Amino acid sequence: MQIQVSRANPLRLEVDALVVPATETERLPRALRPLDQALDGQIDAYWQSGQFGGKAAELVRFPSRGRIPAASVILLGLGKAREIDAETLCAAAGRGVKALRKARLASAAVLVPGLRRVAPDAAGQAWSEGAVLGHYRFDRYKTLDEAPPALERMDLVVDPRHAGAYRRGVRAGAAIAESTCLARDLSNEPGGVATPEYLAGEARRIARETGLNATIFAERELRRAKMGGILAVGRGSANPPRLIVLEHGRPAAPRRRRPTIALVGKGITFDSGGISIKPAASMDEMKHDMSGAAAVLGAMRAIALLKLPLHVVGLVPAAQNMPDGNAYLPGDVVTASNGKTIEVLNTDAEGRVVLADALHHANSFEPDAIIDLATLTGACIVALGHECAAVIGNDDALIRKLQTAGERVHERLWQLPLWEEHRKQIRGTVGDIKNASGRPAGTITAAAFLSHFVDDTPWAHLDIAGVAWRGKPGKYGVEGATGFGVRLLLELLRNWK
Ligand code: BES
Ligand code: MN
Ligand code: ZN
Repeated sequence: MQIQVSRANPLRLEVDALVVPATETERLPRALRPLDQALDGQIDAYWQSGQFGGKAAELVRFPSRGRIPAASVILLGLGKAREIDAETLCAAAGRGVKALRKARLASAAVLVPGLRRVAPDAAGQAWSEGAVLGHYRFDRYKTLDEAPPALERMDLVVDPRHAGAYRRGVRAGAAIAESTCLARDLSNEPGGVATPEYLAGEARRIARETGLNATIFAERELRRAKMGGILAVGRGSANPPRLIVLEHGRPAAPRRRRPTIALVGKGITFDSGGISIKPAASMDEMKHDMSGAAAVLGAMRAIALLKLPLHVVGLVPAAQNMPDGNAYLPGDVVTASNGKTIEVLNTDAEGRVVLADALHHANSFEPDAIIDLATLTGACIVALGHECAAVIGNDDALIRKLQTAGERVHERLWQLPLWEEHRKQIRGTVGDIKNASGRPAGTITAAAFLSHFVDDTPWAHLDIAGVAWRGKPGKYGVEGATGFGVRLLLELLRNWK
């Protein structure tokens, strides 16, 4: 989809649909009077009849019957004026584009309203971001139903005085949303296709496209780095594990140091549970167990495209967790790359085992902050459900920043505690720490385990088990993978310090 900022007169635009967003009011807004007149009072008639009043979920489409060059007009509700922010605009844009696509239209123009509460660049970002996200479908394996064709062109008709700011916003919004869609694609891809080496290939492709630096640790390099955690989890699979490292903005000289941020994403490309095998029901959903990895790869792409003035390192430990004659076993003791020994009590608590090595490797970049994203525990869904992710860490300032960014992009985070008592709960009998310790505080004890691999660096762990995908279409109309994390990380890093 091509998104363009236009200064054209909407009454002259030849498009399939002219989209007219409006806030909640009892009467037709003054700005729409010329259009209403051209349409012989049809918009006003809708208003008078009570079929449309600008409420957030409202959308009506009617033919223009040749009164204007646009074939049809869509009234798109934005909700109450005083509640509108970039996020509600983004959601409205998504709803609008979904409707356009469902109606099989090829081109549209939006009469972008000037809003007191949203600056032009933020508005441009919201319209393009929402449009690209709402346009998304994972239909590459559909051959029977005819998928609605792509919307080819969307013009944003804006106040000419702010066209430059809108254009900048549109560019940023498209980069972020397309990267979110990339994360969704990676997560939705079946485990039989999306193997660790597949993720590595995607990382190389992203690096080529955007100028990132890519380093892939294959088994030989993993062994040399003594990454016993990643190797153990990957051992039962015919598809060997990898550690993917993407780097953006590495300073040319140590003096030119910029803030360094490490992003770590759990990349279990399929989680059968291993020898501690999972029940059959819903096991298919475990193709999404690399959604943390997908978010990191997507975020790295957007960070590079937007040329953020930061040094960002993305790390993805990728493995397929399978039962096999060669698989790691309950009772095994695994030595991670920092020398700590892990007592494996449950091979299904594999995420923390691969993250151990990746987090330790992240330390070697001497980052100012480490943020990891992982579909780590079913307990997180029990505790917090599907409307927020859990955040746990050792630095409240970092956690607050993440929460603020999350509120702004509607990827919300709720903090859980991490206390010394929780770390005691995972002390090992034979090894240093155990990878499972029963049901109490399952999300927190998983984080307690991770804390052994981050030293004193400010660190925040996001358990995204409840938000990385959804069974039924959610509030924003997404099915399957959501791409959670990409927009959150970009919101955080674009405003870093
Ligand atoms: N990938 C799962 C967590 C998960 C389960 C995410 C369901 C989303 C939906 C993780 O590897 C896992 O299996 N965790 C175990 C840990 C337990 C064995 C300590 C869990 O949550 O049951
Ligand atoms: Mn598991
Ligand atoms: Zn898992």
